[in-house]
Amino acid sequence: MDKQQTEFTVEQATSPVSAQDREAMLANPGFGKYLTDHMVTISYSAEKGWHDAKIGPRHDLQMNPSTMVLHYAGEIFEGMKTYRHPDGGAGLFRPEANARRFNNSAARLAMAQIPEDLFVNSVRELARIDRDWIPSEGEGSLYMRPFMIGTEVAIGNHPSDAFLYAVIASPVGSYFKGGVSGVSVWVSEEYTRAAPGGTGAAKCGGNYAAALAAQAEAAKHGCEQVVFLDAVERRWIEELAGMNVFFVFDDGTIQTPPLTGTILPGITRDSLIRLARDKGMTVREEPYGIDQWRADIESGRLVEVFACGTAAVVAPISQLKGKDFDLTIGDGGMGPVTADLRKTLTDIQFGRSNDPHGWVDRL
Ligand code: COI
Repeated sequence: MDKQQTEFTVEQATSPVSAQDREAMLANPGFGKYLTDHMVTISYSAEKGWHDAKIGPRHDLQMNPSTMVLHYAGEIFEGMKTYRHPDGGAGLFRPEANARRFNNSAARLAMAQIPEDLFVNSVRELARIDRDWIPSEGEGSLYMRPFMIGTEVAIGNHPSDAFLYAVIASPVGSYFKGGVSGVSVWVSEEYTRAAPGGTGAAKCGGNYAAALAAQAEAAKHGCEQVVFLDAVERRWIEELAGMNVFFVFDDGTIQTPPLTGTILPGITRDSLIRLARDKGMTVREEPYGIDQWRADIESGRLVEVFACGTAAVVAPISQLKGKDFDLTIGDGGMGPVTADLRKTLTDIQFGRSNDPHGWVDRL
């Protein structure tokens, strides 16, 4: 951490995309379909520390076929967004929280720590240089994807002694095809996401790869997302494939699974807990079992369920499906608590309201 370069060499790209084509892309960005003109790259080696920090034209990465990431999945990433504000400016949301989580993920995967200010500056600088790519319509935003890979060239499995850190950006709209209409979830009995002591709390590519077969199982049963149960008792709700989950009860209280090391400590999750408590709501971070979930839908005690994450924002869950059950939650749409929390969060992110916690980082 002592050796670091924090000044970026900047090489401005000539965009291969015309302003007109870019506007068409921003009007209908989908999720992750398009990338902006530039990218950040910073190298790390044991001798030089962090060096060669560059912002330049986005380019392909070339590597030796025995580069460690290709064999042992030494990869971590973050997801964060740049939001267009009503005055035409823009802001990031809690970027220092992403920096902290990135380094926690790095520690779990025996990768190098990156100075938090270097991480935050890299994302800020990319958002600035590619500011024309920040959507200004509806709830579109510029999704920032910092990531790091182990680049030592070696077939033996040991901690890499070299890394590449990079940031790319993509204009995005809704993560779910149906926008904010209800998401259906499938309870996987076959697959789990993470075991105690594993990498469940790290944001590493391996966790997302391990979720894909379960996602395919969910799709086979007509569901958009899988919901994972814990790996030990196969009973407690963990998270979906890339987003946290909240339950809203008829007494107005809210519950979400606790951070026991097997689920991702979502920054959206943390923000919603704080915003709900600001409103005087009771929020429990306690285990919730699948049998209880089913019983609470049937009795009417559970009135709303929602998924949350940077990509997903806050999305209502309308249907819970498993091997021998298929239940509709509430009236199958977005309930009032979900809608209110979603609005409070997004109003802060898009600079439409006060920022009581100082979460917005204006560019
Ligand atoms: C995010 O919400 O930022 C994620 O990284 C989840 C991913 C499935 C897009």
